[in-house]
Amino acid sequence: MNIILLGPPGAGKGTQANLLVEHHGMLQLSTGDMLRETRKADTDLGRRVASVMDAGELVSDDIVSAMIDAKLSDMGDKVGAIFDGYPRTEAQAHALDEILSKHGRKLDHVIELLVDEEALVDRVTGRFTCENCGEGYHDRHKMPTVEGVCDKCGLTAFKRRPDDTEETVRTRMNEYRAKTAPILPIYDARGIVQRVDGMATIDNVTTAIEKVLAAG
Ligand code: AP5
Repeated sequence: MNIILLGPPGAGKGTQANLLVEHHGMLQLSTGDMLRETRKADTDLGRRVASVMDAGELVSDDIVSAMIDAKLSDMGDKVGAIFDGYPRTEAQAHALDEILSKHGRKLDHVIELLVDEEALVDRVTGRFTCENCGEGYHDRHKMPTVEGVCDKCGLTAFKRRPDDTEETVRTRMNEYRAKTAPILPIYDARGIVQRVDGMATIDNVTTAIEKVLAAG
């Protein structure tokens, strides 16, 4: 089964993709994570990607589609893929059709997470993670029990994403509205979009997604 998780920044795409990987052994394909790896390299490409991401804009379609193609070539025996943060433009949606067909796969569901954008600004601007184990925290909703110490692994180094400032989050949302939301009609026309309340608790969002998957 191959699915797209679609929604604006902070909608919960990454959170739900991680849970689906745990429950079903699917392959998570997050273009955001791939690009964060790319930007670590001291290369022209790494620097270009970093500057586009820090501005909250979209990296070029060719770069991200080539990344997805390469990952799908290397899928091994995984039962399916979860596209997290891809496609984000009409060109990427068409590229994904070609890539899937090349790999003998098809798209089963597009799950749109319906959210309140103002709440997302709060979610995204307050989040930080443990640098060691990746456990997620939030300035206002989930601080470590002992200040400065990760509850899960006990280490004391935390990180924030450079694009999680309020100004950049608003640009990311504008990009979503202008370039990503308009791809939904492509999938609506195929009858494969399922809408899930992304403002529910994480567990309830997972339950709703599981229902969609169970229905086939
Ligand atoms: P990317 O990394 O994809 O970021 P994003 O889409 O902005 O999404 P986020 O990762 O911020 O949010 P999410 O929906 O995954 O939510 P999460 O689960 O983390 O992209 C970053 C940048 O890379 C882009 O701006 C662009 O520059 C570039 N890029 C990436 N893909 C690209 C592409 N295809 N084309 C071109 N450029 C591309 O949750 C957020 C927070 O909310 C967490 O703290 C979480 O714990 C909390 N939370 C989650 N669900 C709930 C809930 N139900 N209730 C309460 N809190 C919740």
